[in-house]
Amino acid sequence: MENLFKTQTKVGREQREKLLNQQSLLIWFTGLSGSGKSTLAVGLEKILFEKGFKTYLLDGDNIRQGINKDLSFDNAGRAENIRRVGEIAKLMVDSGMIVLSSFISPFQSERELVKSMVGSEKFFEVYVNCPIEICEQRDTKGLYKKARKGLIQNFTGIDSSYEEPIHPDLVLDTSAMEVNDSLNLLLEKILPRISLA
Ligand code: ADX
Repeated sequence: MENLFKTQTKVGREQREKLLNQQSLLIWFTGLSGSGKSTLAVGLEKILFEKGFKTYLLDGDNIRQGINKDLSFDNAGRAENIRRVGEIAKLMVDSGMIVLSSFISPFQSERELVKSMVGSEKFFEVYVNCPIEICEQRDTKGLYKKARKGLIQNFTGIDSSYEEPIHPDLVLDTSAMEVNDSLNLLLEKILPRISLA
């Protein structure tokens, strides 16, 4: 780092935001596997895109098959996963995009790190709060079953912890709400944050 200098660019985030006619934001979905993070993020991205916003979705299952395919699910692997995603999201927010992210991101310290990287005013945390019993009943990917059999280690909620967000911007209980109602609530909160005055 010591021989590195910062190149001063001549185009900044606010200019790009103006060109794109939007305010950039990172919408960070966190919650257990099977809680509904990706369903909500995919649904919200579609709605925002159709309204003309420039969006991009970073999803744990996809990112872990690409740039982060070298990372494990132990605590250090998860921390590095989120740190890298934070760096990517920071660049994308600086580029003027509305970034949605869907990662379990079980640790408060890494979520705080991402928030400090992009800036608190550009970070909107959505806690997708669904009881583990319901996530396990859903078991959309069959992973809870595998984890209970001991075929997967360090599974969040079983033998790896999940720390609930302390001050999320929005909490959605997907066991009690219809997807469309959650999406409407999200939209109500997000639109004022991304629309240019
Ligand atoms: S995180 O904890 O590092 O944020 P991330 O969201 O990227 O996790 O990846 C979670 C996805 O990986 C899950 O949706 C699931 O499909 C898969 N997965 C594989 N092994 C595990 C595990 N041990 N715990 C949780 N999810 C796992």
